[in-house]
Amino acid sequence: MKETSLDKIVSLCKRRGFIFQSSEIYGGFGAVYDYGPLGTALKDAISQRWMKSMTQLHENIVGLDSGILMHPKIWEASGHVGAFNDPLVDCKHCKARYRADELVEENPEDAVWKNIQCPSCGNAGELTDPRQFNLMFKTHVGPVEDDAAAAYLRPETAQGIYVNYLLVQGAMRLKIPFGIAQIGKAFRNEIVARNFIFRTREFEQMEMQYFVKPGNDEDSLNSWKEERLNFYSDMLGIDSSKLRYHGHGEGELAHYAKEAWDIEYEFPFGWSEIEGIHNRTDFDLKQHQEYSGKNMQIFDQEANEKYFPYIIETSAGLNRMLLAVLSDAYWEDSENNRVVLKLHPSLAPVKAVVCPLVKKDGLPDIARKIVDELKPHFKVLYDQQGSIGKRYYRQDEMGTPFGITVDHQTAEDNTVTVRERDTQKQDRIGLDGLTEALQAKISTYS
Ligand code: GAP
Repeated sequence: MKETSLDKIVSLCKRRGFIFQSSEIYGGFGAVYDYGPLGTALKDAISQRWMKSMTQLHENIVGLDSGILMHPKIWEASGHVGAFNDPLVDCKHCKARYRADELVEENPEDAVWKNIQCPSCGNAGELTDPRQFNLMFKTHVGPVEDDAAAAYLRPETAQGIYVNYLLVQGAMRLKIPFGIAQIGKAFRNEIVARNFIFRTREFEQMEMQYFVKPGNDEDSLNSWKEERLNFYSDMLGIDSSKLRYHGHGEGELAHYAKEAWDIEYEFPFGWSEIEGIHNRTDFDLKQHQEYSGKNMQIFDQEANEKYFPYIIETSAGLNRMLLAVLSDAYWEDSENNRVVLKLHPSLAPVKAVVCPLVKKDGLPDIARKIVDELKPHFKVLYDQQGSIGKRYYRQDEMGTPFGITVDHQTAEDNTVTVRERDTQKQDRIGLDGLTEALQAKISTYS
């Protein structure tokens, strides 16, 4: 199979309105991206599938949308003030800054890491000792910029679930085991941001926290591990041979985790994490009880006892998931000299384009009528600009699965041609059943 370079995906994303560099007219803003019309629609489609897989397909999982700003003590309790650090080194020669752990990973042959060449200026032996750098963005609430008013932009959505879990459980009358799912922005002052939207300073997480009785945690982790891997192939249509698990060894575990697995995708730049599945034990709830002074134990009616539930977390990055979907869909059809995004129809931002073959003979009017009929059901575009081939190729790059052409025969027998994006096969379909025929093709996964 042909390798897809990340640069080609980046350029398609800009050309077709999926993703733009933030603040481009000012020269860009480090590691932040803006989502254009198609990027927004694709991101929404992915997050809706995730929410559906959690809160619709599981009766005991409910949604939540907590604030980005929260009480600053939450981040002391969670360990993020004390332990959410990256070790940083600077090159004394050219002042470039790196994460020490990543430099060592990239240069495993250099036992004495300070001898590593600076990747930027090439000098060896110029790196400083590592110092710890906290990844949270700090801000101030209210008019006074002192430490008493300090607050943080959340670096993970999880804590918003922990501090609300008893309220949610009470309101929804949930019994252990149950889950709370949330989608929202998270912020990290990443030092080495790279690979397009893979690692950015502002991103979206889709996290689900599953509260279980201690002792059932290991079984629960195993079943979530399996379910989450299947989600990528079953609900996003990603090639399963490009997905794998990576288990965390002792040195890799986050400060809250007893056991952790990553789901990795084979991106154009190599295998990398899209999602983490963590056994967070009762660490967070105990910490919040200690720091808030409030009871964080649950009363389990069935067992007639109070305890701190264990938490199995599934934590996915929406932007990374989107990049995996784009990487998987990108296809250079060299036989036909075209680039195609082979998105599953249910994810495609535009489902169909309607094209009059020519701009005359009443064909545009018929095409407009078809658009009016289809648009209450799904997103369609009208396009009469350029040759029909060019119009189709434009839509192929956008991932639009169906091209509907109104030609002279349409005026005679009320049929149109429907072209399928990947095969370029064309069928003639009667206008009477067009909406239903397209809906059937689109909704295979829903
Ligand atoms: N609550 C647990 C947690 O936040 P994590 O492994 O640090 O765990 C979970 O992050 C997921 O969030 C990652 O698998 C990744 O998809 C996404 N993520 C983390 N940092 C990111 C960044 N800087 N840019 C984009 N996505 C990121």
